[in-house]
Amino acid sequence: MKNDLYELTRKRRSVRRYGDKHIDDEIISEIMKVALTAPTSFGHKPVEYVVVRDRDMIRKIGVCKQMGGSQINSADAVIVVMVKTANKRQAEFWIEDGAIASSYILLAVEQYGLGACWVHIRNRMGKRGTSDQEIRALLGVPDGYSVLNLVAIGEKGETKKAYTDADLHTENVHYEKY
Ligand SMILES: Cc1cc2nc3c(=O)[nH]c(=O)nc-3n(C[C@H](O)[C@H](O)[C@H](O)COP(=O)(O)O)c2cc1C
Repeated sequence: MKNDLYELTRKRRSVRRYGDKHIDDEIISEIMKVALTAPTSFGHKPVEYVVVRDRDMIRKIGVCKQMGGSQINSADAVIVVMVKTANKRQAEFWIEDGAIASSYILLAVEQYGLGACWVHIRNRMGKRGTSDQEIRALLGVPDGYSVLNLVAIGEKGETKKAYTDADLHTENVHYEKY
């Protein structure tokens, strides 16, 4: 049966090495349009993004994560995914809200044949404080937001095999009863 979305999702793999090609701002803006359609708890739209293209700033953001942050250095764009956590209602589902939006970004990136990887920030440490605190200070994010993750984006610099039906953990799906 035709399944266009599966064709896309099976090709999406975490790409951690990037080529030199510059991605047009227009493509990034189309990717962000997809992110903005993601569902959010109560429809509050609490997820906000900082799109970083400046190489120097990308490197500085990488330093905010003690281990594994430098993998973003060769990315052409880094999307910082943050969620409003100032009030209790927004805070309740902030991880879910940010994670769904990030998934949308990962799929949108694949649609343009580009590579991307989720780089985790929540509960990670930087040099002086948490990665979240350091990234917010660097980017001038006001209080009341929490950074969940980054999505590093670039030309694919490594080839990864698309998933096939044989790779699927179909045993994880239970019908009617466990
Ligand atoms: C919540 C979450 C956190 C992740 N954190 C990182 C990370 O910090 N660094 C990284 O390189 N990959 C990270 N990943 C990517 C996973 O390692 C990757 O999705 C997994 O190994 C499966 O590979 P695939 O994406 O190619 O299917 C994360 C993925 C998720 C969903």
